[in-house]
Amino acid sequence: MRIDIITCLPRLLEGPFSDSILKRAQEKGLAKVELHDLRKYATDKHHRIDDYAFGGGAGMVLMIEPVANCIRELKSQRDYDEVIYMSPDGQLLTQQVANELSLKGNIMILCGHYKGVDERIREHFITREISIGDYVLSGGELAAAVLTDAVIRLLPGVLSDETSALTDSFQDGLVAPPVYTRPAKFEDMEVPEVLLSGHEKKIEDWRFEQAVQRTEKRRPGLISKSK
Ligand code: ADE
Repeated sequence: MRIDIITCLPRLLEGPFSDSILKRAQEKGLAKVELHDLRKYATDKHHRIDDYAFGGGAGMVLMIEPVANCIRELKSQRDYDEVIYMSPDGQLLTQQVANELSLKGNIMILCGHYKGVDERIREHFITREISIGDYVLSGGELAAAVLTDAVIRLLPGVLSDETSALTDSFQDGLVAPPVYTRPAKFEDMEVPEVLLSGHEKKIEDWRFEQAVQRTEKRRPGLISKSK
């Protein structure tokens, strides 16, 4: 899978993709993340990428030309399954959305900034808009990093034990059950006995029960949604 990210702050995104799982996924050739600096696509001599909003009002708007130039250049190199705009008024990112996007081949992501992007970009170039939550970030970069992480970790072979993505919270409409590791007893705090029993079926049943109880208590909305 290939993800192209268009941003005016590429440095903000270099960190998340050069470490840990995202780095390894790229080294293994399972995913490729490319950053594109919007400023390189500016058309005037000052390399402007933003301008005042027509009609007035505070805040700058990303200009249509650099964004359109960049999207068109990328599209001339390959076909894209989605051109996504990160925006607080987009579709809420859920595990289901991440699962769906992980099945695509090439994705382009545009990070918004300032007051947003010229609306004509959203109307004519963007196929999908995604929000990572009902709050406003300074720009779409961190949101794009969240989306990219959520998608890439689902690709077969990215996680060392493939089943671990399948047992994540939300994959079955439930949050994950509690987990423990050694030592089995710390001060007077003990690990539930069943997990030490070696009885696979009992452990599986206990985990499922715990996941259901946790979901009912912490995220009751998830259960009613999956019914
Ligand atoms: N840009 C600013 N806030 C955002 C959010 N919540 N989700 C996606 N992109 C954003």
